[in-house]
Amino acid sequence: MSTRPTPSTSDGTYALISSAYTSHISQQSPSTSRTNDLVARSFGYTALSLSTLPGTSNLGVSCGNPLALAHLQPGETIVDLGSGGGLDVFLASPFVGATGRAIGVDMTPAMVTLARRNAEKGGYGNVEFVLARVTAVPLDSGCADVVVSNCVINLVPQEEKKKVFEECWRLLKSGGRLAVSDLLARGELPEMVRSDAALLVGCVAGASRVDEYEAWLRGVGFKDVVFVDTKSDLNVYKEGILSQDAVDVADAGAACCAAKPKPKPKPELKENGCCGADVRDTAETQGATGSAYRERLEKLDLNEYVGAYQIYAIKP
Ligand SMILES: C[S@@+](CC[C@H](N)C(=O)[O-])C[C@H]1O[C@@H](n2cnc3c(N)ncnc32)[C@H](O)[C@@H]1O
Repeated sequence: MSTRPTPSTSDGTYALISSAYTSHISQQSPSTSRTNDLVARSFGYTALSLSTLPGTSNLGVSCGNPLALAHLQPGETIVDLGSGGGLDVFLASPFVGATGRAIGVDMTPAMVTLARRNAEKGGYGNVEFVLARVTAVPLDSGCADVVVSNCVINLVPQEEKKKVFEECWRLLKSGGRLAVSDLLARGELPEMVRSDAALLVGCVAGASRVDEYEAWLRGVGFKDVVFVDTKSDLNVYKEGILSQDAVDVADAGAACCAAKPKPKPKPELKENGCCGADVRDTAETQGATGSAYRERLEKLDLNEYVGAYQIYAIKP
């Protein structure tokens, strides 16, 4: 599909995702901020709640509103897996109040730095941000009343996804609630979608099927598991990407998370991420041109392959 195939190792996937979302932060501007608000509003966030957010907390990379049915109560602890700029953490903060806590977890250092800066700007006294992968969260077992996640689990390498649900289970108290927004595959994704790095970063290529998700959730013990297909039109993101004339669409992400893999990964990626070289080398040596990619992306109906779902479950 694109000039970039997906990395062949999970370390390569982590390096690609982290690099792409770091790059996404640097592309924020007043005009992207308006688009980000439109994206969030289309997923059910109100203009009023968005207007309370400090700095660039909303990066336009959500695919739902997991707080909508979280029923947060004063004094509760909520953990947000893959918290980005802090969007859901800051919105949760007033609901859990001074006696509660809202904790964001993200593996991308630049995201955690941004979220902490946003927290300072907003003067929040009950939030914190932790640098970690969602498969190994350095928080106590049973610390959370609610775990949420917004458009992140699809980004976890397939072979590690089960671990995310094990972590959700471990973090939650008995009686705790899980509320997730994520893109899920409507069936087996074709190879051309599955192997496209831009669609991986864009939250499409890594989407799991509903039956896989349900098996992971029930497998660790969750009950009352509910999947709601929000039927949101995901092609709006594709149109957003195609309208970015300055961007080589072969480098662009798609769908919910319009983040872009870095066109020219920097040397530190090679030093830090053991598979960074793998990502860069394949990116530089593959075939399709930007215009061929654009043409194929234009024809691709994302709604055919993935849907935006809300997923709820209880830890008995
Ligand atoms: C699509 S963005 C969503 C951000 C945020 N939830 C929102 O809705 O604004 C994905 C975020 O998850 C983080 N992320 C991706 N994979 C992760 C992983 N395995 N562990 C921790 N964070 C991860 C990325 O760094 C990025 O900040």
